[in-house]
Amino acid sequence: MSEALYDLVIIGGGPGGYVAAIRAAQLGLKTACVEGRGTLGGTCLNVGCMPSKALLNSSEKFVDAQKHFAEHGIKGSVELDLETMLGRKDKVVDDLTKGVEFLLKKNKVDYIKGWGSIPKAGEVLVKSDDGEQILKTKDILIATGSESTPLPGIETDEEQIVTSTGALSLKKVPEHMVVIGAGVIGLELGSVWSRLGAQVTVVEFLDKILPGIDEETGKLAKRVLGKQGLKFKLGMKVTAADKVGDKVKLTMESVKKGKVEELEVDTVLVSIGRRAYTSGLGLEELGVAMERGVIQVDGNFKTSVDGIYAIGDCVPGPMLAHKAEEDGVACVETLAGQKGHVNYELVPGVVYTHPEIATVGKSEEALKEAGVAYNVGKFPFSANSRARAMGESDGQVKILSDATSDKVLGVHIIGPAAGELLSEAVAVMEFGGSAEDIARTCHSHPGLSEAVKEAALAVDRRAIHI
Ligand code: FAD
Ligand code: NAI
Repeated sequence: MSEALYDLVIIGGGPGGYVAAIRAAQLGLKTACVEGRGTLGGTCLNVGCMPSKALLNSSEKFVDAQKHFAEHGIKGSVELDLETMLGRKDKVVDDLTKGVEFLLKKNKVDYIKGWGSIPKAGEVLVKSDDGEQILKTKDILIATGSESTPLPGIETDEEQIVTSTGALSLKKVPEHMVVIGAGVIGLELGSVWSRLGAQVTVVEFLDKILPGIDEETGKLAKRVLGKQGLKFKLGMKVTAADKVGDKVKLTMESVKKGKVEELEVDTVLVSIGRRAYTSGLGLEELGVAMERGVIQVDGNFKTSVDGIYAIGDCVPGPMLAHKAEEDGVACVETLAGQKGHVNYELVPGVVYTHPEIATVGKSEEALKEAGVAYNVGKFPFSANSRARAMGESDGQVKILSDATSDKVLGVHIIGPAAGELLSEAVAVMEFGGSAEDIARTCHSHPGLSEAVKEAALAVDRRAIHI
């Protein structure tokens, strides 16, 4: 057993952990990052954000080549080579995870391979195939992330009944795939396999998709995705999934009337949410306060035990990579004597379907419920010249601003490059800006961002192109 002395040992090398490690090292803290999966980058780089975006991109190109190239005067038939597509995705992941390893080395962070646990404050025990070691440290940061929430009674095998991890590596395109849960994973990975030729049915417990999103934007999303071929069964719960040979027999029940339906499909994706992952850390024994498995922290990310901090998916808040990164930076800046800060009111959320769905701030429903008087400005991409030239005219920009001060309170975009367009709104909102500020800012022509400007003009009923 060997010993070392660190200022900070981080358990978990995902976007929360590795970014915190780099920032801590920049601030002069002697830092180690412990990761058990064998590669850095966490869920996000290995089995989350990045492989899903690689497949979303590839499958979008396939649909373009199949269905849209001809209208541009580009002719010829294309066929799918799934193995190559999956291989490309794996290479993207491999390059990115190695990139993170390089960054840790460059910043002189010790990357310790193995599974960490906390026998007591000030010590991290790391177990790997090479043996065990104790890392002595002033502070410990837990960044162990999350895992897929299981659906009781339905066992996943990552081949026929899969979580998002299995859905990133299916060996062939299913004829019929059922996605349980019309959330972010269901819509993104459902889109991938639907574009590649599967019939995709999304079964959702609630009577709407993407719960929590601005309702009008959610309805538009359902309409556009429906046009692309995704079928939705809303207000339904799956009660059983039985494997029968190479098929899965699904039994579901309508939530209101209890009417039972059966479906025989090839693949089932269970995507009903994610839960904090803290197994094996020894937190119960240490007395770290948790609520339903989620580590409880104060405003400086400190747990109920001195010297132990936590960030990212394993603490409360949206389970997003950029939120985990912001947590990590704010936490270690505070540890280094600076003033770390995260504005949780303005964490953007993007669903990378086609078109993308991007939102920040309050929905119309939330403003109504809070009794806030607001103005709405909307602008459709069908009236934006660049979107028309691209043949991407589905969707709209919607801006909600305070009726008295005009301060922007929420922005909801469904349309081409919505995720990138949203950044302008997030920056304006971070500075407490108004719709008028966006409306009076010069936007280049012809640009998709002109739709954001026009929506801001529409708040004051003076949009030009509609
Ligand atoms: P994680 O990324 O989960 O990293 C935690 C790491 O800790 C893991 O590598 C794990 O192996 C390691 N670990 C756990 N316990 C131990 C231990 N005891 N010892 C050592 N190591 C340990 N978010 C977005 O913002 N945008 C997206 O487009 C997006 N797409 C997604 C797509 C999918 C399919 C999924 C599943 C998630 C997606 N997410 C996305 C969510 C995003 O992946 C997470 O919010 C993010 O990874 C959380 O970062 P984290 O550092 O908190 O945890
Ligand atoms: P989610 O919380 O987004 O959606 C889960 C959906 O399943 C909800 O609509 C819920 O009502 C429904 N549901 C719950 N129980 C059900 C049941 N028994 N039967 C039918 N439907 C049921 O969760 P998801 O899609 O699994 O994603 C997990 C998290 O991963 C997201 O919340 C997000 O934080 C992160 N993520 C982010 C992405 C992005 O930023 N682009 C992409 C993918 C994941």
